[in-house]
Amino acid sequence: MCGIVGYIGTEDTKEILLRGLEKLEYRGYDSAGISVLNEDGVHLFKVKGRIAALRDAVDEKVSSTMGIGHTRWATHGAPSVDNAHPHQSASGRFTLVHNGVIENYTQLRDEYLKDVELKSETDTEVIVQLVEKLYEQQGDVTEAFRTTVSLLHGSYAIALIDEQNAEKIYVAKNKSPLLVGLGDNGFNVVSSDAMAMIQVTDRFVELMDQEVVIVQRDGVQIQKLDGTVVERDSYVAELDASDIEKGTYPHFMLKEIDEQPFVIRKIVQEYKNEHDNIKLDADIRKAMQKTDRVYIIAAGTSYHAGLVGKQLIEKLAKVPVEVHVASEFSYNMPLLSEKPLFIFISQSGETADSRSVLVQIKEMGHPALTITNVPGSTLSREADYTLHLHAGPEIAVASTKAYTAQIAVLAILAVDTAKAKGFDLDFDPLQELAIVASSMESLCDQKEEMEDIARNYLATTRNCFYLGRGVDYFVAQEGALKLKEISYIQAEGFAGGELKHGTIALIEENTPVIALATQESVNYSIRANVQEVVARGANACIISMEGLDQENDTFVVPKVHELLSPLVSVIPLQLIAYYAALHRECDVDKPRNLAKSVTVE
Ligand code: F6R
Repeated sequence: MCGIVGYIGTEDTKEILLRGLEKLEYRGYDSAGISVLNEDGVHLFKVKGRIAALRDAVDEKVSSTMGIGHTRWATHGAPSVDNAHPHQSASGRFTLVHNGVIENYTQLRDEYLKDVELKSETDTEVIVQLVEKLYEQQGDVTEAFRTTVSLLHGSYAIALIDEQNAEKIYVAKNKSPLLVGLGDNGFNVVSSDAMAMIQVTDRFVELMDQEVVIVQRDGVQIQKLDGTVVERDSYVAELDASDIEKGTYPHFMLKEIDEQPFVIRKIVQEYKNEHDNIKLDADIRKAMQKTDRVYIIAAGTSYHAGLVGKQLIEKLAKVPVEVHVASEFSYNMPLLSEKPLFIFISQSGETADSRSVLVQIKEMGHPALTITNVPGSTLSREADYTLHLHAGPEIAVASTKAYTAQIAVLAILAVDTAKAKGFDLDFDPLQELAIVASSMESLCDQKEEMEDIARNYLATTRNCFYLGRGVDYFVAQEGALKLKEISYIQAEGFAGGELKHGTIALIEENTPVIALATQESVNYSIRANVQEVVARGANACIISMEGLDQENDTFVVPKVHELLSPLVSVIPLQLIAYYAALHRECDVDKPRNLAKSVTVE
């Protein structure tokens, strides 16, 4: 949430910052700004709205070789020019961008800034005013910056420039992600994410919590809060610049839906050894064998993948699994078993709610495995083990390929555990996933049918219900989330049998109900639930699986192993949501009020 960039070098900064912010826009897009410094002083450009609007607002004639930029997802204070970053100190000497939430900002304001008139409603402004206050007392910018950082409670990634020193960008982080990128020819950069700066460098240095970094044209110095210098090697980010471009696609979401067969094949390849058996870290295998209960912790779509994962692990490996929404678990922890193993599922690896559980359970001494698309991310670094999704960057705010990748990796983990426990299975996940990949391909080729469903069922409706039983219920929840987040149609996923316990009261003439029928054991009963809503006027759309299909089903997905059916049944739901949003002229890739990486609790 919120994205930060910084550049210090020899080229004109504006374009580098703007391009970086465009790549970070998925993290928040309600307002944006850049500050550049040249011999005339600091030039500040801020807008309410998107980077495109910022581009128009930036004065082409101002040239500079250092600056910082920000794209915002509002936490404190409404989206507005005043609340947009960068923020400046009272004298205008210091300028700062921030990602995160300063929990003690009111205390800091009351204790240190009584005589300062704040210009915004943000917690961020307190930081930059504090730097100036402390500089007035201490007379040294680095010291004032370090002291400021030591006073902050909460999450932050910050970058600061000093009007009187065009040679340094001051940077710090705690809980929020921030990287320093190393350039070869007298430049260095700062970025919330390697993707934003991959056009200028692929070499990055990871920053740890409560470190301060002085970024200069010809070097980078990392310090601890007590001033001790820290040495750290850089790493090369394995990112292909073309992965983060839309290419010929109108939207990233559509591109990412289409990438799913490729991702599943990539997972099969990555998790297969030379004997065509599962290849998995032996320590993860041991941890899965040792545990008496798995606790899956996740949010949103990743939580929905966790629900499917529970079925896979319980059915195949016979290990009990609980799935918890991260933001609830922290404050309402259930009684834990004697030997718990925590699995964190997170596309970004940065979700603050999940991270706060990770910190809690690490303090309690429990082992943790992170399943993520970003191996160097916070959740990956801080857990004992990581399983990589290999899905490539997911840019659209609505998660699609990460969901199917998470389920595929969970299936592999479940089978590996079952085998390690000596269970005889007639289920080869690598072979079954190869079948899934081909089925996904054929589904992705049937976009016109999905577009018709979106038009016929969702063109004008205000609400929509998704029904399923068993694993279809979990997919129904994911289908509903996809629809609501990008089309703003109120949508809910229900267990087929539960509807009549209350929610059926909402069914009216023409209410769309999308039902999934991919499970043999409940094929009869889900269809009975559909009859119940049709009898009350619902406009029912049945998505079934080959072999279980009946006359008049709206759409039939190819047959795959029943345990893996979510991997194919979710694709029509993703595409229906996409076309519904498109017909309603919504911004598919950047839905209102949302951000891709939710780094605040
Ligand atoms: C929905 C969506 C979100 C995320 C959730 C968790 O399409 O993308 O619900 O799934 O914010 O994010 P990660 O997986 O990065 O922890």
